[in-house]
Amino acid sequence: MKKGLKLLLLAAVVLVPGWGTAQKWEGLADTPQMGWNSWNKFGQNISEKLIREQADAMVAEGLVDAGYIYLNMDDCWHGERDADGFVQPDSRTFPSGIEALADYVHSKGMKLGIYSDAGRRTCAGRTGSFGHEYQDAIQYARWGIDYLKYDWCSTENINPRGAYTLMRDALRAAGRPIFFSMCEWGTNRPWEWAAEVGHSWRTTGDITARFAGNPRQRGWGQTVLSIIDQNAPLRKYAGPGHWNDPDMLEVGNGMSVNEDRAHFTMWCMMAAPLILGNDLSKMTDDTRAIILNKKVIAIDQDRLGVQGLRYKTENEIEYWFKPLENGDWAFCLLNRSTEPVECDIDWQEYNLTDDEVSGLSTSFDAITYDIENLWETNAKKAKTGTTKKALKVTVPGHDVALYRLTPNQKKK
Ligand code: GLA
Repeated sequence: MKKGLKLLLLAAVVLVPGWGTAQKWEGLADTPQMGWNSWNKFGQNISEKLIREQADAMVAEGLVDAGYIYLNMDDCWHGERDADGFVQPDSRTFPSGIEALADYVHSKGMKLGIYSDAGRRTCAGRTGSFGHEYQDAIQYARWGIDYLKYDWCSTENINPRGAYTLMRDALRAAGRPIFFSMCEWGTNRPWEWAAEVGHSWRTTGDITARFAGNPRQRGWGQTVLSIIDQNAPLRKYAGPGHWNDPDMLEVGNGMSVNEDRAHFTMWCMMAAPLILGNDLSKMTDDTRAIILNKKVIAIDQDRLGVQGLRYKTENEIEYWFKPLENGDWAFCLLNRSTEPVECDIDWQEYNLTDDEVSGLSTSFDAITYDIENLWETNAKKAKTGTTKKALKVTVPGHDVALYRLTPNQKKK
């Protein structure tokens, strides 16, 4: 090859997005994504009317202000492909088309997410992206889509890393920044290879609105506790730009208030994506109080981006620590049993160093922290003293206690 031609090709590969060395879109996932998705509550029964209603509720309920900006359609928005191979929405349920829906959602200050699958068919049997990856990415970009959840049904024997990288490159080449949420259920250990491919990857099979008990089948029908157990050991793989995704939230979908609170808290402790899965147009005050607790959300969204660590489990209580910005820590007690458990925390027993990820130490022997109870709504009562004194708390069954520890600034 002539030298000039070689140089030209090299320049093209380096400079043109989508050529050879394509990368995922950067800067979209500095903190875990927040939003809503249709699947957990509405399953296959979605329509543009439903999505618009949920968009209105997102705004009216103050969820957008709280950070929930993605409104994501899951499976079953699809019709078939047109004569040129471009995928079309289901004309019965989305008669105005996806572009009009995206305009509407954008006008409300939110972003619109869509769903597809690396196989020929989605999990519910709709049109998949196999063989049409670049064309689908172009279609999403034209419509104004901001987020793609990419599933793993009917993939036969295709290579997972190859399939997800292909769609990453297609999204990049289409020219519109689109968040790439990989939904491969952890089957091929995506945490080991996907940091450069997607912004988040599912680590387990599908969640259900059950807190405990045996998963219904291997992989599927997961519970909150079974998911925590699978996701907790993966903390070293998560960080800004690439998150472990223990599946979408089931808050407001039928568990007890205690269980909903524990579920939401643990997702925040694990720096998980916070994708709501309930009907936002019909929420109880209890659900609102959970998903709109800004101090708890701040634990999830902390800029340090470290997934919390399960320090120990004793008498059915799990002791969790999450290092935060500016020397703060989140500390959480999770009660796995159905009975209340009394805990007496002598902080000196928790001088730990997070060797695996952040290298940070709690240093309770050297630093005194102020303690704030993040689920106590009375501001005065929420200030729970300092780590100079032991903390006594009774954690109700299937519930949590959650605290933010901040180095005490008082002059000695
Ligand atoms: C899979 C995914 C779910 C959901 C359904 C849709 O099971 O894991 O989150 O998207 O497909 O059919």
